[in-house]
Amino acid sequence: MSSTARAPIGIFDSGMGGLTVLAALRDALPGEDFIYLGDTARLPYGTKTPATVQRYALQATAALAARGVKAVVVACNTASGLALDEVAQHHAPLPVYGVVLPGASEAAAVADATGVLVLATESTVKGGAYQRALLAANGRLKIHAHACPLWVTLAETGSQSNALVDTILRHDIPTGHPRTVLLGCTHFPVFRRQLEEIFPATCFVDSASTTASWVAADLAQRRLLNQRDAGQVTFLATDGVERFRRVGGHFLGQEIRAVELVDL
Ligand code: DGL
Repeated sequence: MSSTARAPIGIFDSGMGGLTVLAALRDALPGEDFIYLGDTARLPYGTKTPATVQRYALQATAALAARGVKAVVVACNTASGLALDEVAQHHAPLPVYGVVLPGASEAAAVADATGVLVLATESTVKGGAYQRALLAANGRLKIHAHACPLWVTLAETGSQSNALVDTILRHDIPTGHPRTVLLGCTHFPVFRRQLEEIFPATCFVDSASTTASWVAADLAQRRLLNQRDAGQVTFLATDGVERFRRVGGHFLGQEIRAVELVDL
């Protein structure tokens, strides 16, 4: 195994939501070490302009590259939609993976004639990356896209199942919506169980597991897989490390012991 294959995989998000993607990556790649960076000081990315999101994404990737990662996963949907090409070009030949294409291809594969409803941040919806990726997968697909800014705040505060959350989830998914709903934001999978209870006939798709299998397949092809038994995760955040440690466990589905404070 090469020394590059033994290096960790970098993953970043604007906050803790990307831990849902990290959880899927750890399931798919148990032998890998990961460095997870949450840019909590500058969250949310989902209301920022493309130029700002691109600058933040380049800085986050540079911080991970400086720690010697062998690949970067842009877990943030907003950054994947608005900055993936810039990040990949700037850091070539480092493999850089986003979450938009995997999520869109899965949603397009399961969609019926009612089409797909994309739920995401304001900037992701406005940027149109999901709409373009869905149309590229199936040019006849009916696509609706809707921003759900409150969901990020609710998820970040650790509120997952109460009457207020229930009201907001129902409000943001209109009656008569398409059968397939694409959760195009890192934070939304934390509501998945509740959503499936409220809308039992709806097929919810999120990018986490599809992204993890795309990353696993591509690293295998590049002979960059780490063959060890159990990998480690290092957690970095740009603010509020104690809160990250406490609330992040909800997203990851397991306890986080230590988080290092970093400046980008
Ligand atoms: N991580 C962002 C995303 O997936 C959501 C949170 C934010 O707005 O920064 O789009």
